[in-house]
Amino acid sequence: MNLNLTHKNALVCGSTQGIGKASAIQLATLGANVTLVARNEEKLNDVLSELPTDQGQSHTYVVADFLDPEKLQQKISRTNHIYHILINNTGGPAAGPVFGATLDEFERAFTQHLKCNHVLVQSVVPGMKTEGYGRIINVISTSVKQPLNGLGVSNTIRGAVGNWSKTLANELGAYGITVNNVLPGATATERLNEIINNKAKKTGKSVEEISETMMNEVPAKRFAKPEEIANAIAFLASEAASYINGINVPVDGGRTKSL
Ligand SMILES: NC(=O)c1ccc[n+]([C@@H]2O[C@H](COP(=O)([O-])OP(=O)(O)OC[C@H]3O[C@@H](n4cnc5c(N)ncnc54)[C@H](OP(=O)(O)O)[C@@H]3O)[C@@H](O)[C@H]2O)c1
Repeated sequence: MNLNLTHKNALVCGSTQGIGKASAIQLATLGANVTLVARNEEKLNDVLSELPTDQGQSHTYVVADFLDPEKLQQKISRTNHIYHILINNTGGPAAGPVFGATLDEFERAFTQHLKCNHVLVQSVVPGMKTEGYGRIINVISTSVKQPLNGLGVSNTIRGAVGNWSKTLANELGAYGITVNNVLPGATATERLNEIINNKAKKTGKSVEEISETMMNEVPAKRFAKPEEIANAIAFLASEAASYINGINVPVDGGRTKSL
């Protein structure tokens, strides 16, 4: 099975921590040249220094905010790279019930998750078509399949990203480009810490109690490590996944209650 990514250029978004960082490390380990994207330049530099270069890989970063799609697109165009792999990933929307959500919260989440994914795809697809190789992988959430309580704006926007992605897969498949979604379950990152702390504050329960309840909902009885999500992402990015297109891959230890 060919998992080798030598001479492939990967644009990995939201890569200063968590799932994005683990994905950048895994793709670079398989030989890819990685361009990191996030807001915090200090952390970008730290991650850059952790990426392996033993196979001649060359890595760089772009500082950009996913709340400004136009600027993001300009900055990516200026890198003048052909990208073979795009990992669409950014911070999750704030938690809370959908009924009380403000219009601004929906707009921000739509911009950050859908509009930014879209401008990135528009930037990288011409190069992917030239190369006859493209892997677009969207990090979404299992809420695409089953809404999660207390994540109202997130549940809503994730559905939109899922359908955008499936539509793109239909349009781009003929060019050797695949578009797939990885749906993480509860994964031990800053995002999960925020969600747990938020629940603890709201319910008056301890962080340990909330964590245990959440782990008990997972057949695996534990949270995922970011590397376990990154492994699925790296496989989908490889030649080995060439005939896998337009699907959702839940990586959730079996938590989702449907197929
Ligand atoms: N962890 C979980 O349990 C879980 C479960 C299901 C789905 N997910 C989803 O998977 C995705 C990644 O999750 P994670 O847990 O790895 O999140 P995380 O630990 O919060 O990391 C988010 C990454 O995105 C970057 N980012 C955040 N806001 C940004 C913005 N406005 N512009 C550019 N970059 C931004 C952050 O870097 P900077 O701060 O440097 O910009 C960081 O590198 C999120 O959409 C999350 O909701 C996570």
